Amino acid sequence: MAGQASEHWKIEDLDFSRIAREQVRTDENLFYLVASASFIESGSDLYTQNLVDFFRGDDEVTEWLSNHWEQEELQHGQALRAYVEHVWPEFPWETAYRGFLDEYATYCKVELLAPTRALEMTARCVVETGTATYYRAMARSTTEPVLRDLATRIATDEVNHYKHFYRFFRRYRAQERLNRFRVMGTIGRRTLELKSEDADCAVRHVLQARAPHRAGDAAYVQQLSAHMNRIIRTHLSPAATLKMLMRPLELPARVQTVIQYPIRQFMEHVFLR
Ligand SMILES: [Fe+2]
Ligand SMILES: [Fe+2]
Repeated sequence: MAGQASEHWKIEDLDFSRIAREQVRTDENLFYLVASASFIESGSDLYTQNLVDFFRGDDEVTEWLSNHWEQEELQHGQALRAYVEHVWPEFPWETAYRGFLDEYATYCKVELLAPTRALEMTARCVVETGTATYYRAMARSTTEPVLRDLATRIATDEVNHYKHFYRFFRRYRAQERLNRFRVMGTIGRRTLELKSEDADCAVRHVLQARAPHRAGDAAYVQQLSAHMNRIIRTHLSPAATLKMLMRPLELPARVQTVIQYPIRQFMEHVFLR
């Protein structure tokens, strides 16, 4: 794995001087998408410890979580922050992030982990599917080359995280002899949660710092979320997302085709909210 770490991209690989600022500077929805993502990624270290404790004794998993996964998620946060600061320098990132962190810390509790290790790996697969989908959509939604490059790099990392979690999932599933209905239950639950507390919390704190006079305006917050969702929904690739979501079910191809439609409906419902 050492080779993988040295090959991983660095923030210096991004050329922020190439940003076409005039293309993005006035795009308020894009600002919220990038800024709220920078908060969530930067808060990754809050739950790494919970995960490491949960998988204690499994050195392959804990080593990867601490030395690769956490580092990469934090780097996503730093790179997105740098992008925000280049394009919207007036945004007080640090102050807004502090406020976010105070609230976000209360969500990252051990009891939020799934009941077994295999199910937690299932949940991690869903979360990485969600982030991969989000960044792929972000990359497609803009013509600004530096953001496109950054979002594409992050999406690739998220797919790679998914692959690791999926491999660990298979190992634990075999050990725990889990049945598909429990896996399905976790996938369904976590898919519904993808767009919940974390994102809402981030958007609220970005808004608080960006436009404090609107922070208490529930209709505005709702409208803002709707715009953000629309950008993701318009640019997501349902087929790729579905494939990732369903993979832990390890269904025969025939069954997969049959249940694809209801799952797709469900997924669209999640992103439509
Ligand atoms: Fe990430
Ligand atoms: Fe990730």
